[in-house]
Amino acid sequence: MIAAIGVLALILGLVLGLPQANGGGINGSAEALEGATSPSWYPSPKGGTVDQWAESYRKAAALVRKMSLAEKVNITTGTGWPMGPCVGNTGTTNAGFPSLCLQDGPLGIRFADSITVFPAGITTAATWSRKLMYDRARALAKEAKGKGVNVLLGPCVGPLGRSPLAGRNWEGFGSDPYLQGIAGGLSVQGIQDEGVIATAKHFVANEQEKFRQLSESLSQGFKDVTSPLSSNIGDRALRELYIWPFMDTVRMGVGSVMCGYNQINNSIACQNSYILNGILKDELGFQGFVVSDWLAQRSGVASVLSGMDMTMPGDGLLWADGDSLLGPQLTRAVLNGSVPIDRLDDMALRIVATWYQLGQDDASYPRPNFSSWFRTSIGPTYAGVGPSAGHSLQNSYADVRDDHHEVARAIAAESITLLKNTNGALPLKSGKDAKKSIMIFGSDAGPNLLGPNGCPDRSCNNGTLGQGWGSGTAEYTYLVTPLEAIQAKALADRTMVEYVLDDYQYSAINSTAGKAPNATCLVFVSSDSGEGYASAEGVLGDRVDLKLWHGGDKLILSVAERCSNTIVVIHSVGPVDMEAWIEHKNVTAVLMAHLPGQESGTAVLDVLYGSVNPSGRLPYTIGKSLADYGPAAPILKQPGGPAPQQNFSEGLYIDYRHFDKQGITPRFEFGFGLSYTTFEFSDMVITQTLVPTEFPPARPIGVPAPELNSTIPPSSQLGFPLGMVRLPKYIYPYLSDTTVTKSSAPYPYPPGYSTTPHKPSPAGGAQGGHPALFDTIFHVTVSVFNTGSLPGKAVPQLYISYPNGTGIDFPVRSLRGFDKVAAGPGETVAVGFDITRRDLSYWDEKKGNWRIPLDKKGNIGAYEIFVGDSSRGNGVTGRTKVVKV
Ligand code: NOJ
Repeated sequence: MIAAIGVLALILGLVLGLPQANGGGINGSAEALEGATSPSWYPSPKGGTVDQWAESYRKAAALVRKMSLAEKVNITTGTGWPMGPCVGNTGTTNAGFPSLCLQDGPLGIRFADSITVFPAGITTAATWSRKLMYDRARALAKEAKGKGVNVLLGPCVGPLGRSPLAGRNWEGFGSDPYLQGIAGGLSVQGIQDEGVIATAKHFVANEQEKFRQLSESLSQGFKDVTSPLSSNIGDRALRELYIWPFMDTVRMGVGSVMCGYNQINNSIACQNSYILNGILKDELGFQGFVVSDWLAQRSGVASVLSGMDMTMPGDGLLWADGDSLLGPQLTRAVLNGSVPIDRLDDMALRIVATWYQLGQDDASYPRPNFSSWFRTSIGPTYAGVGPSAGHSLQNSYADVRDDHHEVARAIAAESITLLKNTNGALPLKSGKDAKKSIMIFGSDAGPNLLGPNGCPDRSCNNGTLGQGWGSGTAEYTYLVTPLEAIQAKALADRTMVEYVLDDYQYSAINSTAGKAPNATCLVFVSSDSGEGYASAEGVLGDRVDLKLWHGGDKLILSVAERCSNTIVVIHSVGPVDMEAWIEHKNVTAVLMAHLPGQESGTAVLDVLYGSVNPSGRLPYTIGKSLADYGPAAPILKQPGGPAPQQNFSEGLYIDYRHFDKQGITPRFEFGFGLSYTTFEFSDMVITQTLVPTEFPPARPIGVPAPELNSTIPPSSQLGFPLGMVRLPKYIYPYLSDTTVTKSSAPYPYPPGYSTTPHKPSPAGGAQGGHPALFDTIFHVTVSVFNTGSLPGKAVPQLYISYPNGTGIDFPVRSLRGFDKVAAGPGETVAVGFDITRRDLSYWDEKKGNWRIPLDKKGNIGAYEIFVGDSSRGNGVTGRTKVVKV
């Protein structure tokens, strides 16, 4: 379509930051990724093409038909920062569609009172418990709904953890796409089963904080930088690692997906037509709406045509200036024809259909009853304007916690990963057998002297570390410190407790540690990171190394030199370098307690004293050095040009895939964790349930999307309604000047833009991708035998090795199944795993499809299947039969 261009649309064109035409398939090599470009994919696929959403789209069509152009625009655009109770608020309509409240986040309701601070994503992943993943999400969503949140800004399934230093890895579920996908999918299910719209974020390849946002780069003094970091990535690694978890969230029917701040192959994530139109909406069949990360939108028309459906917080290039790239600009762009009206209809339909799909049209769905901006009950209705715009009741202090501390504590305890336990150091004994004396060391055991919420968005590491920092945090209603919990237990046991909480008072540390030769010494240490807009102790988001903070190594060694029973507890955002002390003979036990949230103390007590037998497993590898993680590990710290380029030239080889390929022995491998009992896995039985074809069969045809056939109204109807009081910086859909001049020059559309339907991907056809990708091909059972003397929970993990002789490069092992099972002493439990077509396939870049590798004779070769207690631990191995095709 060649449309005429209007004056304001021209302004939009100036900020297009156009995606470049693609140079063809990208194979992941460093040379190929240099200056990578992203293909174009237009027009944006319409929502309403899968059966499960048909009814919601039917209802949405009926409602959107009643909306004026201004109303449609209004629901796509935030009202501005901070112009409403939530971090994101959409505009209103007269058609019966409310302003939506969008609120962080993945571990608790941000900026709200009387809520639960659940364990972080990384902690939840470390439980390897599908039940707890689901239960956490469901409880979180109950709280969101109780506070009147429509759209919860989680789960976070990216960053994936390409680099162990990336500041926000802790918000998600670990460095393996399968684990991340299961946890992400179950989180969506749990959130949406409560009727709250989940948001899978950050789409996609948003793998470090530094340079993610232009404003942050400039404020850090990188004056020559002109655009966000580009994650340059080949199609295969993109699908097999970074898109994979998003597939699972879409398959679970996720209502919204947040496009990230970064670029992908030099095209901004929120205006990358290949990523949003092509992969998300066509290939993955996403039916909900794409919301921009806050100020991640960098253009008007280009973003809309590329598949972004909602802009947040509404302001455009700068915070709180009221100058939106949608709002009145979108109104004008539709009036002058540069944005086809059916694209606006699709944006509105996607938003309204999602609301119906989650049942939020039910009149009993709560309205927001809290304010993100202040705690008094009455306060300014529009915090961004201040008192002049009137006051209203904002905080009703609804206590939405119910019994959610129980699930929070269960996750915090079940995630604790026992890494070392010599001489039966743990569990500690209780009652009359209890130790006479316990010594506690480290600020990480105690309170933050500024209070649990003393630092904005938790951007400090004072006292025990329960969350990282940034938008993915919440305000503690309470935080039980380890010191408190241990003190209470010691009181009952008549144990003496002494402590030094100052990490640097070595004379006090040394004299206390050397005081009682038979004491148990507990050393609490931490390592923190967070989101790039804030810093703690000079760390600007991403970690600078894998070291413990506050001289943790020295603290541990100081104690271990003097105390023969030194037990180390770590609270951390990810792996830490333990080499300085891990082999010390007096370091008898090590617990990785991740980021436990409010139940820190209660949970660690459960494990220390054995009321919970540890069953956490590492959701990442703990290497012996940063260098051992390979070329993906360093954070790009120098821009190297106006658009910082980060080449994902390692392809599939991150975390354990890299260690395995290079034959590097980690300190503790991915999936590792001990128990107070022992398990043996045996008796593998592999049953083939289906003979697959090399490629999925022809793509199923969905249902037709609703057509509204709207007409463009006269521009005179789009002025501000007479007598309307306008708030400063509040974003309205109306035009101050309703003259819409059409230019005779063609509109400068992004290269490749077309309204002719694009060829659909053969890998699509249902939510999450082609339905055949989720067909079970093999069913595997193993026996899990508790060989020890205590009841416990085992985590059998299934890894596949692809057949030899295919000519395709594959990782040594890839996680493709896991379960968590309880077994009493001497008990044997059978465990089953389904291996699907996707699990056995690779992404063929040339064919643009998932493909099962064939050997030279054209057969499906034997896959090696390993079920073990970690990615390279003890277990049982079997092989599938060669299949003639
Ligand atoms: C930016 C963060 O990247 C995103 O995760 C969050 O949801 C928004 N800010 C809103 O706070």
